[in-house]
Amino acid sequence: MQMRYLGHSGLQVSALGFGTMTFGGAGDYFAGLGTQDVADARRLLDISIDAGVNLFDTSDIYSGGLAEEILGEALGTRRGRVIVATKIRFATGAGPNDAGLSRHHVLNAVDASLRRLNTDHIDLLQLHEIDPATPLDETLHAVDDLVRAGKVRYLGVSNYSAWMITKALGIAEARGWERIVSHQAYYSLACRDIEFELVPCALDEGFGHIVWSPLAGGFLSGKFRRGQEAPNDSRRGRGWGDIVPIEDERGLDTVEVAAEIAEARGVSVAQVAINWLRTRPTVSSVILGARREEQLVDNLAAATWDLTPEETERLDAVSSPRVPYPQWHQWDWAADRPVGPNRVAL
Ligand SMILES: NC(=O)c1ccc[n+]([C@@H]2O[C@H](COP(=O)([O-])OP(=O)(O)OC[C@H]3O[C@@H](n4cnc5c(N)ncnc54)[C@H](OP(=O)(O)O)[C@@H]3O)[C@@H](O)[C@H]2O)c1
Repeated sequence: MQMRYLGHSGLQVSALGFGTMTFGGAGDYFAGLGTQDVADARRLLDISIDAGVNLFDTSDIYSGGLAEEILGEALGTRRGRVIVATKIRFATGAGPNDAGLSRHHVLNAVDASLRRLNTDHIDLLQLHEIDPATPLDETLHAVDDLVRAGKVRYLGVSNYSAWMITKALGIAEARGWERIVSHQAYYSLACRDIEFELVPCALDEGFGHIVWSPLAGGFLSGKFRRGQEAPNDSRRGRGWGDIVPIEDERGLDTVEVAAEIAEARGVSVAQVAINWLRTRPTVSSVILGARREEQLVDNLAAATWDLTPEETERLDAVSSPRVPYPQWHQWDWAADRPVGPNRVAL
């Protein structure tokens, strides 16, 4: 398994990480995703760690905190050998201060996560979503205090706009506070929106992307094909509300091209979709989701081979999104002043 530096930090994370959203199954919403218990989690962690995974992603809202408990218990004495990434922001109680990114909730939420994970530090604390009601300064000061206190080692955000990350980095630099090193974002062959603002921002600011839902919630696994009935035994087939938007026609065309590549190579469609992401610029790690052990084994095998440039080009072309403004203007009219290494002067 390839290890990458997380953004411009010195922390190394595995190119494929493991996501725990399927742990616990508490409540209707999370039960629709998976119901893995501690014994299941131990097996999945064994398989992941044996394959070289060191990054484990969770959140204080997955199954109401149960996923963190299961992860902590299943890791046991292996805790010190892995990177535990969790997220805070969403409601953990009914009180007015049990949600958001106020100093009050941030400090309480991290203490609660530490207890559930049964650890004395969180390797990567991620702000799960923006909190428009709380000034960024208040949140950034609170998380900086957590780093100073040794409870948190690295800071990341998730589902942020590019301008918000740039603003947060500017505030942190001006105040001498800890920098954000990563952005956990939705990115897949079915949705390439982050390429317009967040990827150029990451290249410029030096943070890394941690990708969530790399298979678009299972859509890109190859079991959803044009003209075929969706399998009942799946998150999407059971009608579990899609949290990711999919443009069906382009998405189905993309699955067909991925399936041709998969068939020619004797690999799964899921592996093709994961490998396309693995080599995108700014992607530090791709967080795998698996409701079953065999899905995890399949997905991890993506780390053992690479797409050819021709295969990547075919996937790029078929999944190519409509380019919004101002990017279509910039891509046409600013190509004479390229960025990156080995720039050729036109
Ligand atoms: N930051 C955020 O806001 C955010 C949001 C969502 C997720 N996440 C993180 O990202 C992780 C992954 O998300 P995700 O679970 O949505 O990932 P995903 O890879 O898009 O979907 C995983 C689901 O696809 C199906 N699947 C996976 N591999 C398969 C295979 N090889 N063959 C057939 N079906 C397969 C399984 O569901 P079925 O068997 O039910 O079809 C599995 O649970 C989460 O655990 C979490 O850590 C973060």
